[in-house]
Amino acid sequence: MSFPSAFLDELVSRNPIDEVIGQYVHLKRQGGKLFGLCPFHTEKTPSFSVSPDKQLYYCFGCHKGGDVIRFVEEEEGLDYPDAVRFLARRVGLEVPEDGNQSSTYRRQERLRALCKDAARHYRSQLFAPVGEAARAYLVRRGLSSKTVARFGLGFAPGGWNGLEEAMREKGYEKEELLAVGLLLKGQKGGVYDRFRNRLMFPIIDVSGNVIGFGGRVMDDSKPKYLNSPENLIFNKRKNLFALNIAKNSKQGRIILTEGYMDAIALHQYGFDCAVASLGTSLTEEHALILQKYTKQVVITYDGDQAGQDATRRAISLLEKSGVEIRVLRMQGAKDPDEFLKQYGPDRFRLLLDQSENHAAYGLESIRRKFDLSRDDQRVEFLREAARYVAGLPGAVEREIYGARAAELAKVTTEAVKLEVEQAFRQKKAREKRLRQQKDLAPAAAQQPQSRKIRYDNVRSAVAEEKLLAMLLKEPALFERCGGLTGGQFSSELLGRTYEMLKQRRASDLQVSLAGLGEALNEEELSHLSGVADRHDELVSDRAMDDCLRIIREEYEKTHIAAPTDLLEMRRRLQEKKAYGGTKPW
Ligand code: UTP
Ligand code: MN
Repeated sequence: MSFPSAFLDELVSRNPIDEVIGQYVHLKRQGGKLFGLCPFHTEKTPSFSVSPDKQLYYCFGCHKGGDVIRFVEEEEGLDYPDAVRFLARRVGLEVPEDGNQSSTYRRQERLRALCKDAARHYRSQLFAPVGEAARAYLVRRGLSSKTVARFGLGFAPGGWNGLEEAMREKGYEKEELLAVGLLLKGQKGGVYDRFRNRLMFPIIDVSGNVIGFGGRVMDDSKPKYLNSPENLIFNKRKNLFALNIAKNSKQGRIILTEGYMDAIALHQYGFDCAVASLGTSLTEEHALILQKYTKQVVITYDGDQAGQDATRRAISLLEKSGVEIRVLRMQGAKDPDEFLKQYGPDRFRLLLDQSENHAAYGLESIRRKFDLSRDDQRVEFLREAARYVAGLPGAVEREIYGARAAELAKVTTEAVKLEVEQAFRQKKAREKRLRQQKDLAPAAAQQPQSRKIRYDNVRSAVAEEKLLAMLLKEPALFERCGGLTGGQFSSELLGRTYEMLKQRRASDLQVSLAGLGEALNEEELSHLSGVADRHDELVSDRAMDDCLRIIREEYEKTHIAAPTDLLEMRRRLQEKKAYGGTKPW
């Protein structure tokens, strides 16, 4: 579907790109631009730029770029029309719809409303007579009524159709209840409530929408927790329980736990920065989200083997991001919830402050595998520790933890240093081999660069890029372009863009890439955003004329019709001589 250009213009101007992106990415001003950590790939130093005057963003790291609409498409996982609707709603603009087209976004809105109503229903059941046992369970687990209210906890009673009936009464369809997994299909074609006789934990996204539920039994039956399945509005890989509260914490870190109850207990005891991954291990998407909201993540997974394995996986994911990683080791309790009940918040705070950074944690994990009172085990320990230390990213880190390993094994620092250096060299050699293998691989297998648009005529294309960049900055320069047409460009994409901008100029619309999104695919818009970013400084009549000249020259080189007969060729030759070869034809 396409929207009227004037509407899109208004939409884009009422949603300033720095303001919209600023809600997702922490941006810092630097010159005329803003910089932040890219929301599309994990990174340690900001290479994501937003240019308010061009209304574009561009990442030098992963080469993604575009206008505000494209950003919302990427970030919110919406398609183009829905991203437009999203931004329209943000500023209270009415969308000119042409009636009966289907909209994923509107469907999502409807399902979110359903989940919110379901959460309300569960909450009302908790406080109804039927919820008595559930209320007693909450008291047993030590949750205050304030905590229960803050997390919107509820109760799904034991019947088979309680929720279905309540939601049907509110006007929701069976099909919608099935779509969010609140209903299940039975064998004989009937349906029944998924959550029965369970304590209900609503899962709320960072915008405050209820997107799913976790439900816990109140005895030892199995499964202990039941969760909403993934669906159009619920993606476990992208959401963290309690992040809607933790994102506003002033504590300067995020505490990452395994369970709903751990996160909730931490909040109750004043650690309002706790979140839980939703019954899955941490994902790359989670790492990206955490990178957006905090500078330090403290992992407090369970002390059992599964928890320790999950810790290691989380560390390796978070290492690629800019966050400082700490690991909290608990003794005397299985998880933070139990620890808090047993030892109280002060002891937990102590653990938090003493939590090891991940290098210390890694080294300690290795030490625990060996009996260092035995010589043979010390040798094995040193070998493994050296390999681990060699893999640490910073030279200072390697030196410090190399020394610590020496201390643990009671050998000289010098000896460990030699081991580490050797392991480091081996690692570098391995990496080099890998790189070489990759270079030999076909171009298509390589990462972002190969996705870039290729030019046939580089001399002309550079001039075309500069010309477009200047026109975007100074649309009045269109006057200097004379009869130049997009067809004279060597690059189809740049020529097409030139024509579109020219048309916008002619119809008095903003000359900007923002708003062309619909006509350009993802790669093209990213590429053009990069173009606008690359040629930032130069705008002058002279630079403009240079570009025009180069484009025309290159065009004529390839497009002048071949002379049809000898006579014509001779005429041209003579002409060329007479004008000293400079006559432009
Ligand atoms: P735990 O078994 O450690 O539960 O599972 P917990 O958080 O300590 O819960 P309590 O204290 O017994 O009430 C950790 C997390 O793993 C997921 C849930 O997200 C849970 O919070 N899980 C666990 C499930 O999804 N299903 C299960 O059956 C069990
Ligand atoms: Mn627990």
